[in-house]
Amino acid sequence: MQVPAIDLRRAQFDTPTMIALLNRSASCPQLAARAHFGPLRIGTIRAPRVVSKCAYLLRKLELSGKSLLICLVPTKVIAVANQKGGVGKTTTAVNLAACLAAVGQRVLLFDLDPQANATSGLGLEKTEGNSAYRVLLGEGSLLDKIKSTAFERLEVIPSEVDLCGVDVELARAENHLLRVADALQPVRDSGRFDLILVDCPPSLGILTLNALAAADGLLVPIQSEYYALEGISMLNRVLTQLRDAGVNPRLEIFGVVMTMFDGRTKLSHEVMNEVRGQLGERVFQTVIPRSTKLAEAPSFGKPIIHYDKYSASAAAYEVFAQEVLERLNSHPQPAVAAAPAT
Ligand SMILES: Nc1ncnc2c1ncn2[C@@H]1O[C@H](COP(=O)(O)OP(=O)(O)O)[C@@H](O)[C@H]1O
Ligand SMILES: [Mg+2]
Repeated sequence: MQVPAIDLRRAQFDTPTMIALLNRSASCPQLAARAHFGPLRIGTIRAPRVVSKCAYLLRKLELSGKSLLICLVPTKVIAVANQKGGVGKTTTAVNLAACLAAVGQRVLLFDLDPQANATSGLGLEKTEGNSAYRVLLGEGSLLDKIKSTAFERLEVIPSEVDLCGVDVELARAENHLLRVADALQPVRDSGRFDLILVDCPPSLGILTLNALAAADGLLVPIQSEYYALEGISMLNRVLTQLRDAGVNPRLEIFGVVMTMFDGRTKLSHEVMNEVRGQLGERVFQTVIPRSTKLAEAPSFGKPIIHYDKYSASAAAYEVFAQEVLERLNSHPQPAVAAAPAT
């Protein structure tokens, strides 16, 4: 995604743009708006104090002369998908989200699976009316569906069983593949999150296709078992179709992560070698071990780093999160706005 450079000294900012700029500024110490107000929301701009402070900060920037380099880091959307069930999608989405939040990322986990395992895995009740269902059918805003969790910087859009109905309801609706993308746009624009992870259902139905249409990248967990690669070729085909049809031209496989690895079995090693042989660099170095603690943690509504901090599986997800961050930073979709020095 090419983001045009903005000359801050000349740009006329309307209020939402100004807020998005201030929220997303990553590397410019002068832009301390977040420190003053916390994440800004479009709704808060009406407060005159906020408006004048934003304007003041931007003016200070304008006047600071020299070279202004503002790194605008757009919110990334990663869909966690694999049409096979039980391969570790939800476990990966929940634990990756928690580990990234623990190291300072502002993370939103969007639970798009009617089974709502990510919702309960983060300690939230499945509550009628809390899911994205109505928004996907055109009522209300996804911003109002965001719920906080017990974990700092980690928020969630919960799911519940009503999402089941979306497939049928949307099947003949207009723009039915872009409902999630459209609904997520104001969330992206709000600048509240560095990363949005979407936990997909175990199928290639309308919900998953919507997630793929909305995503910048696709994270595919695969289980260290026979037939591990079976799903990938189908997923790849769908990806190509979505790109070719113009539904989401920027979509790519962000990475493949091997889950439920059992180092004691020959099978796990064979599968790992085969997957690495076929998919090469796209496979993350970190492998998630099979662990009963990981399977237990959701029943306590906690990600592994909060359930059993010193376990091997907590360490695995922490290392995996670092690898994900490196990969995100190595192809940043850099909205770098550089204003030349005068
Ligand atoms: N690394 C792991 N070790 C042990 N059990 C795991 C591991 N990852 C996932 N599980 C368990 O396997 C089952 C399926 O995992 P889940 O993440 O729900 O898969 P999916 O979302 O792909 O259907 C769950 O009961 C989960 O607790
Ligand atoms: Mg799941």
